[in-house]
Amino acid sequence: MAIAESADNTSRDTGSLPPEERTLARPFHIGPLLVDPPVLQAPMAGFTNYAYRQIVRDFGGAGLQATEMVHAKGFLWLEKEEDELPDRLWGVKEEARPLAVQIWDNDPATLAEVGAKLAHEFKVSVVDINFGCPVKQVTEKAHSGSYLLRFPDRVGAIVERVAKACAPTPVTAKMRLGCTRQSINAIEVAQVIEQAGAAALTVHGRTAADFFSGSADWDQIAAIKPHLKRIPLIGNGDLTSVAAVVEAFRRYPVDGVMIARAALNRPWLFRQVRAALQGEPVPPDPTLAEERQLLLEHYELVCQRFGPGKGTILMRKYACCYAQGRYGAREFRTQVSRAATPGEFREIVDRYFPRRDGPAMHPSTVVDEACGADC
Ligand SMILES: Cc1cc2nc3c(=O)[nH]c(=O)nc-3n(C[C@H](O)[C@H](O)[C@H](O)COP(=O)(O)O)c2cc1C
Repeated sequence: MAIAESADNTSRDTGSLPPEERTLARPFHIGPLLVDPPVLQAPMAGFTNYAYRQIVRDFGGAGLQATEMVHAKGFLWLEKEEDELPDRLWGVKEEARPLAVQIWDNDPATLAEVGAKLAHEFKVSVVDINFGCPVKQVTEKAHSGSYLLRFPDRVGAIVERVAKACAPTPVTAKMRLGCTRQSINAIEVAQVIEQAGAAALTVHGRTAADFFSGSADWDQIAAIKPHLKRIPLIGNGDLTSVAAVVEAFRRYPVDGVMIARAALNRPWLFRQVRAALQGEPVPPDPTLAEERQLLLEHYELVCQRFGPGKGTILMRKYACCYAQGRYGAREFRTQVSRAATPGEFREIVDRYFPRRDGPAMHPSTVVDEACGADC
C-alpha cells in the first residue's frame, strides 16, 4: 500500500491524533537514547549538512537528525594524507545532540575504525550504517550501500564489528527492501542486523532497482516487524505530509518514521508532525516572505563555511527546493542556477523568489525536479 494514497483517501481529519490514538506514536529508545517524538530526519547526501540541520533543529520536532552519508575509506584517507575532515562532517563535533552520523563502505574494519572515532572522539549519539544507497558509484564501483543486501553475512559481519567498536554508542542500520522486487530479502537482512547487535533499523520501502520510482511499499515494511525481537523498526518512504505520517502510525506497526524529501522544502514539517502526534493544533506554514528570509539565513550559514563562491553554487539546489511548487518556481530556478556571487544570489532571491503558493504537488518531485536525487 502506498502511504500517500491512503492518507489522501482517508475521510478522517488530517490534523491531530485524537486522545484515544495518541499511544500509537510513542517515543522509543535507540539504545540509551530516547527518540522523542518518534520521527527522524533522514540522511540525504548533498542536502542534510550542518546548515540544513540547524534550520530543522530551530523549528524543532525531529526526534533524531542525521548527517549526509560519509565514506569511511575517504574519511581515513583525508585524515592521514591531508590532516582534514570530510566536508560532510561540517559542524558535527560542536553541534547539539542528539545526532546520528551515517557511514558507508563495504569493509568491516574500516567502518569499525571510523565508527569508533565518531562514537568516542566526536561523541555522536548514533552511528548509522548505510545499506540502502542505490547509486552506481556506491554499489557497482564500491560494492557498498544496497549492493550489500545480496550478502546478508557480510551485512552481519559489518554490523557486529561496528557495534563492538562503537559501544556503548548505539549503532543502527538503514536499508531498502532488497536489490530488486524479485529478490526482496528485507526480513532475512533485518534479522541478521538485529542479531549482529544493531540498536535500531530503518527501512525505506523500495528496492534498489526502484530507485525512487513507484511508491514505497509499507506492507513490506510492516511484514518485518514480527521478525524483530528486540530493536525498533523505523519506516521510511513517501511521508509527504502530516496526514501521511499520522496514517503511517495508524496503519503500520512501526516504532518510528523517517522523513526525507518532503522536509527539504518544508523543514518545519517535523514541528507540525510533532504537534499532530501530541494532539495539538498543527502550526501553520511560514509565509512566503518568511521562507525567503529563511533561505537567505541558510545561504549565510553555507557561505560562512564554504566561502561565497562554492557557497553560492551549493545553495542553488537548496534555493530551488525552497521555491518548488510555487507560482514562478521555474523562472526562479532558471535564474538562481546561474547565480555566481552573493550579490547575484541575493538579488535573484529578492526579485524572483515566488510570492504566491502554487497548486499542491507531490513532494517527491521536489528533489527530482529541482536538484536531481543523489542516493
Ligand atoms: C538527494 C537524496 C540524497 C539521499 N542521501 C541519502 C544518504 O546519504 N543516506 C541514506 O541512507 N539515504 C539517502 N537518501 C534516501 C533518503 O534518506 C530516504 O530513504 C528516501 O528519500 C525515501 O524517503 P522520502 O520518501 O521521505 O524521501 C537520499 C535521498 C535523496 C532524495
